[in-house]
Amino acid sequence: MKILAIESSCDETAAAVVQDGCTVLSNVISTSRLAFEQTGGVIPEDAARRQVECILPVINGAMKEAKTTWDDIDAIAVTKGPGLLGSLLVGTVAARAIAHIQKKPLIGVHHTLGHLSSTWLGTVEVDRPVFPILTLSASGGHTDVWLRTSHTAGVLLGRTRDDAAGEAFDKGAFLLGLPYPGGPSISKAGAEGNPHAFEFPLPLRGDDSVEFSFSGLKTSLRYIIRDLKTLDSKLIPDLAASYEYALCAHLCDRMKHAVRLHPEIKEIHLVGGVSANTRLRAMIQEAAPQVKIRFPATLSYCTDNAAMIGSAAQFMHDEHGDDVYAAFETVASLPLSSAVIASD
Ligand code: KG4
Ligand code: ZN
Repeated sequence: MKILAIESSCDETAAAVVQDGCTVLSNVISTSRLAFEQTGGVIPEDAARRQVECILPVINGAMKEAKTTWDDIDAIAVTKGPGLLGSLLVGTVAARAIAHIQKKPLIGVHHTLGHLSSTWLGTVEVDRPVFPILTLSASGGHTDVWLRTSHTAGVLLGRTRDDAAGEAFDKGAFLLGLPYPGGPSISKAGAEGNPHAFEFPLPLRGDDSVEFSFSGLKTSLRYIIRDLKTLDSKLIPDLAASYEYALCAHLCDRMKHAVRLHPEIKEIHLVGGVSANTRLRAMIQEAAPQVKIRFPATLSYCTDNAAMIGSAAQFMHDEHGDDVYAAFETVASLPLSSAVIASD
């Protein structure tokens, strides 16, 4: 199938044309990130207003870049939630209108299922992922570990008890006076720093769950900064590197435990905005040297994009047929259990 996909759950307005779940014919993303650099996070109303301005040019851009006509499109896919309601409405209203006008079936996709599918984008037949897969999905809104037996079947092994990993990067960056989004700015600031200069605790050390807790690390950073009295800019590289190392060490420690509990897994996938992190990529490989590790093929498939929504929609259709064309609501808060992922 050739699917036109739309994603507008936060501050990115994105559209893509994806063929058979893996071949990306176009992937257009417009982001209002720069507008939020100094605010420490996204202002929902501003993000939604930007979405209204960008949605049609982005969709037209994706169709043009894919050199596709409406006749060639088999279905429209759109993120139905979770996310910021105003932003989500812009994408879903556009998708509903286009589906109606062009007489195409419409598939509502859970944002998380999009991230879980992102490791298939750009892959070739001989090198496709093999189930069962342990997937860490870590972004600004969630940090979950899934044990997946097919694209849409599996169990949620654990999630964060408080902040999401990306949120921990964003809040840490704010404390350090670095711009939003925190992940890339902390990596950049810490590139030349010593990751062991400042000591942070390892949350949930020895815990038997596959859960995460990031709020203590953020509080530790706040106390370190408070005890320094003045935040000398010369210390920023070491502080950023040490904080980044601590966040990654916690993610890797819990993933290592998940592998111990599920030795049957064939691959580990890291998806979501945080999977763009270079230090995390190196550390996870060290933590599980015996397992094949995969990340999305390009950085633009790690952070929010529409290609992953098109991919998820294809796999939903492959595994559930025309049931996926059922009517759906646009919802800001959507339980993970409704990510079409059926519990085994
Ligand atoms: O998946 P995503 O684009 O949007 C959400 O669904 O939240 O993830 C955005 C999050 C932000 O919190 C951002 O700081 C984080 O991903 N992020 C990173 C990196 N790039 C983005 N975190 C760590 N390292 C990165 N290189
Ligand atoms: Zn996301």
